Amino acid sequence: MQRIPVVMDVDTGVDDACALLLAAQHPELDLRAVTCVGGNTDVDQVTRNTLAVLDIAGRPEIPVARGAARPLIERAVHARHVHGDDGMGDLGWVQTDREPDRRHAVELLHNVLTTSPDPITLVPTAPMTNLALLARTYPDAMRGLGRIVFMGGAAHRGNATASAEFNVFHDPEATAIVLDAATEFGIPVTMYGLDVFYAPTVTRAQAKRLAASVSPATRLAGELVEFQCDRFESEQATIGDAGAVCVVADPEGVATTSLPVRVELAGTWSRGRTVVDVRDWSGDLAHDPHGRADAVIDVALEVDGPRYADLWLRTVGR
Ligand code: RIB
Ligand code: CA
Repeated sequence: MQRIPVVMDVDTGVDDACALLLAAQHPELDLRAVTCVGGNTDVDQVTRNTLAVLDIAGRPEIPVARGAARPLIERAVHARHVHGDDGMGDLGWVQTDREPDRRHAVELLHNVLTTSPDPITLVPTAPMTNLALLARTYPDAMRGLGRIVFMGGAAHRGNATASAEFNVFHDPEATAIVLDAATEFGIPVTMYGLDVFYAPTVTRAQAKRLAASVSPATRLAGELVEFQCDRFESEQATIGDAGAVCVVADPEGVATTSLPVRVELAGTWSRGRTVVDVRDWSGDLAHDPHGRADAVIDVALEVDGPRYADLWLRTVGR
């Protein structure tokens, strides 16, 4: 079996942890490296969280590098009100003696992308600051990418604001740079945004069963979902960022449409919005001063939620 080489860029984060547990343990995925960026919490905490999750998953050999502390232009805004003070639900799991890779995230990405004999699938589940820095510092390294599947954006509603999804809102310029670079190098991009993000859900009862396991990785997975059920006062919770990893492991579970996408970089109310152009281009659009966006990407508009939830449950419950 040919495993799919994957690199993740994360802001761990409760649901990034769910995504890492899946990517680190799925038998068809070959997680080669993980880079960290400030987002849900500060980058040092993100790095500790990521090391801890990979330790717990029994994958301490995967290199983890610290990256950008703040977005290209904006100040960092954290989401500790959602993810807890330690970004992992304050559940007591963040213990690691391991140090991150000595290289900056951009250097680790450059090394992995330029030395891999096979094209890498990049899965960002965080603001894309590290990736924009990579694209500007080492543009040719982008040639090492076979595909980008990112969690971010939305064709419809936002979450950080009415218009914008958190990851893109946090660093809109970075997302614009990455979409631009992907277009320049012909890298296929799939946007796993808020239109599908909430669909794969795990029930509190399923999480409780995981949390009772003797395996620490399975217990962590269960406790993360239980935390979210408590936090949102619900009997079920989304696997969130883990859905983007499911897209790589099981592409048939998602329906995408190829659409032009721009990132709103100005806007009074809409900065950070992914403007997904669903117009019928056969009509007369001569009055549109903008024309069609250069970046035409695969936007996930429907997902088989139970299928992805089941994939996650089976993998983290092994
Ligand atoms: O907007 C969803 C994103 O923000 C995800 O990457 C998740 O980690 C959340 O906090
Ligand atoms: Ca995230």
